[in-house]
Parts: sequence; structure tokens; C-alpha cells
Amino acid sequence: MSDHDFDQILNRRGEDSVKWNLYPADVLPMWIADSDFRAPVEVVNALLKRVEHGIFGYTDSENQDFARACAHWLYSRFGWEASPDWVEFTPGVCAGLALCVKAFTSPGDQVVMLTPTYPPFYSIPHENGRYPVACPLIKRDGPTGHGDGDYRIDFADLESKLAHPRARLMFLCNPQNPTGRVFRRDELLRIGELCLKHGVLLISDEIHCDYVFEPHRHIPFPSLSPELAQISVTAINPSKTFNIADLHTAALISPNPALRNRLRAEITGAGLNRHSFGVIAAVTAYTECAYYADQVRAYVYENLKYAVNWINRFIPGIRAYLPESTYVLWLDCSGLGLDSQAELMALFLEKGRIALNSGTDYGAEGFQHVRINLACPRAVVEEGLERLKTAATSLRD
Ligand SMILES: Cc1ncc(COP(=O)(O)O)c(C=O)c1O
Repeated sequence: MSDHDFDQILNRRGEDSVKWNLYPADVLPMWIADSDFRAPVEVVNALLKRVEHGIFGYTDSENQDFARACAHWLYSRFGWEASPDWVEFTPGVCAGLALCVKAFTSPGDQVVMLTPTYPPFYSIPHENGRYPVACPLIKRDGPTGHGDGDYRIDFADLESKLAHPRARLMFLCNPQNPTGRVFRRDELLRIGELCLKHGVLLISDEIHCDYVFEPHRHIPFPSLSPELAQISVTAINPSKTFNIADLHTAALISPNPALRNRLRAEITGAGLNRHSFGVIAAVTAYTECAYYADQVRAYVYENLKYAVNWINRFIPGIRAYLPESTYVLWLDCSGLGLDSQAELMALFLEKGRIALNSGTDYGAEGFQHVRINLACPRAVVEEGLERLKTAATSLRD
């Protein structure tokens, strides 16, 4: 264990990073949820050792190291006693969501979700001939009159959508991307009870679980009750925490053997297998790098606090709220007065030379919003904030 240097700036241009190569070189990329931190030294060293061996044949798909490491992480971090036998390997959470759609629904079925949400929640059902069904979260007005970033579930609406005879799955993003909301125990229980009542399986995407800030706590959905565990599949990936997304190592976890068998049939049916780099990175991260997860969460939280204060103080027209989780800020730009999302995005890109995610990619509720990724060194955060300000104030020129 060591202190990781999160202030270190590493050049990512010129390699094949999607984040750093999609836009021209003078544009600062603060969009896709990919961090700019070096992975833990233990992970890098374990991979180097594997590379030095020089033989890269097939990896044993029955090896339980990965499953044991996931179970260890879930218990040591969140107190959920998941058995390694419940863990299925999948290259990514998105691949896992697609496997669930194929395993548990038929063409024409519906997948219910709380919105705004991560764009593949819509596209994965859609591309597979199923229907994404949005349940908009309610943005509550607080003292500022701007919603205060407090998104609540409209349970009457959720129940009406889950009650539809073609509703088969619910995709839950907890903690929530892009709002940063951490759903409370009573909310999760109520969601679960509605799914039970209407025979809907719950797929819980918990990829951001390591970025939950005090006093909030991450509650793995299946840890709520044995009954709810039986109707759920939970997806995790060490990728966001340890910056190893390119190694494609996610897990689908369910205590229900019938659900696991269906998933396994999809996994083998698609010919999917794991590769040793991913397994080595994930096992090393989950068994040796808890210190890094603590440090990256603390670093990112300071970035978020700094940015929220700075934006609200110095950028008229943009409102920022401190999220309960994740390393992204969901910015309300309605005060800029632009009534076209395309114009808003062009403003940031052309005047600020900063690339952000467009709010409407997350659903209609994202109108006049953008998402900014702050999993980067503080100096880059500062540069990004100046660019936001340049863009916003250019409207007055
Ligand atoms: C909520 C959520 N789920 C899944 C993913 C992607 O997961 P993977 O790279 O494992 O497919 C992301 C990445 O941003 C995400 O924010």
C-alpha cells in the first residue's frame, strides 16, 4: 500500500483513448466516464509480470479467483455476503445488461428505468427489439428554486409502468448516473416490492458503488432481503474505481440459480470468455488495492466540492449541486437561456473548447443540462472550470 499521486498529469493523447482523441487537440475532454488517473501500482506490476511470461493462451474459464475476489470486495466494502458461486463473468456491464435483456425478455417486451439515466439503458433494449420505458425522477425544488439536485422517485408512475403486462425487467442505476443520487434503503425496498408484486426482474447496475460519499452508504440491492435477492441480478466492474475499463472485467451476480443458468446459457451461447489481463487486474485491484479506492474517492470528492463552489460563485447561468456519489456533476444550464440543446453543446465546444456530455443523451429531462467528468487531476478541473466560464460569459459579449 502507498499513497497514490492523483495530481500527476499523464498525457493520453496519441494513444487510442476515446476520451482524448474524439475532439481536436485544443479541446479539453471532460465527457465520457473514464478517469485520468493511473491504475494502482499493484495492478500495473501484476500485469507487467504476466506480460513478461510472453505466452497468452486461453484462460481457464472455470478458475474461481475472479469470483472470489468480487465476493471479497462486496463483503469487505458493503457487508453483502455474496457467494463466489453466484458470480458470472461478463466483459462489461453493458454486455451484462444486453445478456440480461436476451436471457429474460422477448422481442416487444419492456424494460423500465428511472430517468435521466445512462444512455445504454435505452439503446441496449432498443437495439435488441425491446422497449425502454422511462420513469422520470422528480426534481424537487429546494431553497434555491432550482431543484437543488434532489431527485426523487415518482412511485405512482413507477408502479403504473411496472404493472404493464409487457414489463419484464427494470434497470436500476444505483448509485445513479448522471444525478449522483444514492437511493435510500426505504426507496430500494419500495422499488423491490413493486417489482415483486408485478413479476418484474430487477437488474441493478452498481458500477459506481465505490464512489459513494459520507454520510451516504452503498446498499447492494440483493442485500435488502433474501426475497428481493431472488428477483435480482447485480452488475459491478472494478473499471471505474481502478481505471481499468479497457480490460473488460465485469461481474453479474445473482443468488438465484435459475437466473444464473439462463445467463450462463447466454454467455456460452455468445462464445464469451475472459482473458487473463482482465482477471489479473480485477483480482489484484479487489484484493490488494482497497487503499486506492479510498484515496480516489476522497480525491474526487474534493474535486466535486471545489467545482460546485466555484461554478455557483463564478459562473452565472450554471448551477451545480454536490452529488451523493459518482465522479460526475450534472449541471443545470437553464440560466444561460438557450432553448436549443444543440446550441448549448456548441457553446461549450466552440467558445469554451471543452467537451461535455449532453444532458438530453440521458433522457428528455436532461434538456438544458450537461454532465462533466471530474475524475482528473485538480489542475485539469481548474482548467475545465475556466473554460466553462469562458463559454458561459461569451453569451454576454
Ligand atoms: C451506469 C453505468 N453503467 C455501465 C457503464 C459501462 O460499463 P462497462 O464499461 O462495464 O460496460 C457506465 C460507464 O460509464 C456507467 O456509467
